[in-house]
Amino acid sequence: MPSPSPTPLPRLERRGTSARLIVDERPLLIRGGELGNSAAHRAYLAGRWEELERLGLNAVVAPAYWELVEPTEGAFDWSTVDELIEDAAAHGMRVVLLWFGTWKNSMSCYAPEWVKTDTARFPRGRDAQGRPLEILTPFGDESRDADARAFAALMAHLREHDTDRTVVMVQVENEIGMIREAREHSDLAERAFASAVPDALLARLAEEPASLQPSLRARWEAAGARTAGTWTEVFGAGAETDEIFMAWAYARYVEGVAAAGRVELDLPLYANAALIRPGSAPGQYPSAGPLPHLSDVWRAGAPSLDFLAPDIYFPNFAEWATRYVDSGHPLFVPEALRSIDAAANALYAFGAHGAIGFSAFGIEQIDDRAGELLSASYDAIRQLSPLISEHVGGASMIGLLPPEGGHRPPHRVRLGDLELSATYEHEVSPGLADGVINEADDRAADRARLPAAAIVIRTGDDEFVIAGIGVTITFAGADPSPDVIGILRCDEGGFDDAGDWRTRRRLNGDETHQGRHVRLVPGAVTIQRVALYRYR
Ligand code: DGJ
Repeated sequence: MPSPSPTPLPRLERRGTSARLIVDERPLLIRGGELGNSAAHRAYLAGRWEELERLGLNAVVAPAYWELVEPTEGAFDWSTVDELIEDAAAHGMRVVLLWFGTWKNSMSCYAPEWVKTDTARFPRGRDAQGRPLEILTPFGDESRDADARAFAALMAHLREHDTDRTVVMVQVENEIGMIREAREHSDLAERAFASAVPDALLARLAEEPASLQPSLRARWEAAGARTAGTWTEVFGAGAETDEIFMAWAYARYVEGVAAAGRVELDLPLYANAALIRPGSAPGQYPSAGPLPHLSDVWRAGAPSLDFLAPDIYFPNFAEWATRYVDSGHPLFVPEALRSIDAAANALYAFGAHGAIGFSAFGIEQIDDRAGELLSASYDAIRQLSPLISEHVGGASMIGLLPPEGGHRPPHRVRLGDLELSATYEHEVSPGLADGVINEADDRAADRARLPAAAIVIRTGDDEFVIAGIGVTITFAGADPSPDVIGILRCDEGGFDDAGDWRTRRRLNGDETHQGRHVRLVPGAVTIQRVALYRYR
């Protein structure tokens, strides 16, 4: 008897500026939650999985710890990884595995004890005064090779033992970034800094300068667009050059690790970044990580990564998401703030950018209110998943999120030949809300602000599926035309398990302001199917 064909490997399929994650030959939109750093232990998670299920997660984003999987060099203990995978699968969830290897939030705290204590073999970075840092230098070849061997062993272990492919993607390291200074000053680093810029990076600069990130291009051109020279010759002196230099070093190290893993198991791989606090300069934020302004450096240095990903804790969620997409990366948000805004940011990520996934950090600690809203949002995304996946990368789907700062409503967004004008409601009007917000335990502070966002999918010429919370939308032609656009019909409902639409009620009268607009009430995530018509 022929043996059954193995489960196909999860893979990315590029679609325009987005990508679909294909798992079991079907697109998977990750409705995720990242576990707290010390949470990926069976005993700790026991009794917590049910809550993760109630939140509507279809994946956990969770660490594999180098210090625990290789406590002695060359001797591996996979129990934490295996138990995580088993327990996630038992609760119907996939896993995005985070390799907490050489770096975790800049530091090297997850390096095994045999690495931490052998500073001759695994050298530290140093500050400008020569003091050692708890950060392994990316110029340590032995460190890179040790990490690569461990990562390769992990991927080989997944290949042999996770045959159902519960693990669908792997993050290489975590929030790499140089801190306190934009570059480190160990002897190894100083030597590299005084050497020529490697050809591979120079070739990338010269290949298509117009496609480079503007700040990188500006620095290179200001220094004379040289095709040879040391780092200061090619990019000029200063903290920005220090950052480019470190980004290249980190990317090359990560490439060594990622490529070694990929040989064992060809799963999608990515690196995540801590973002830049407004107004801070290189050295004041975790510098040189997989940030959008360094995207060209990381891409050229670490081609084995499929994409770079932002951990978005700042309020300008849309801006950071867009910067990653604009610099050529499909959007996956491995970490987002687990506040009430997570519900809105998730809707926006899938609608505006056809995201691979969204995941709130510290998910097992989410509070009741944020959890209720996020699960409502995830439930709408679950129902819409086939539709969203179909429209990923096209011009027929948008996401609406209130624009940041200084914006005068309405928020106008183009969708083909239509202009949608959105206004956002951040408070519940008693009597109009429907679901989630319970007036009885409604606390004044929480009422002060609710999240607002929507996904709009154009399913036909003048037909739409719209899901969201706290958004009112009017429709007009985007270009001059004698046609007036009206609402033909508007139904509230959802998709059943077979994917068929089920109307719960016809919305008209007050609910559409007598046919003037589509309104997604605040405080609850609802889905509507809307048809427009045109008249003269
Ligand atoms: C970002 C890191 O990537 C996470 O592992 C965690 O440390 C969070 N910060 C904490 O806010």
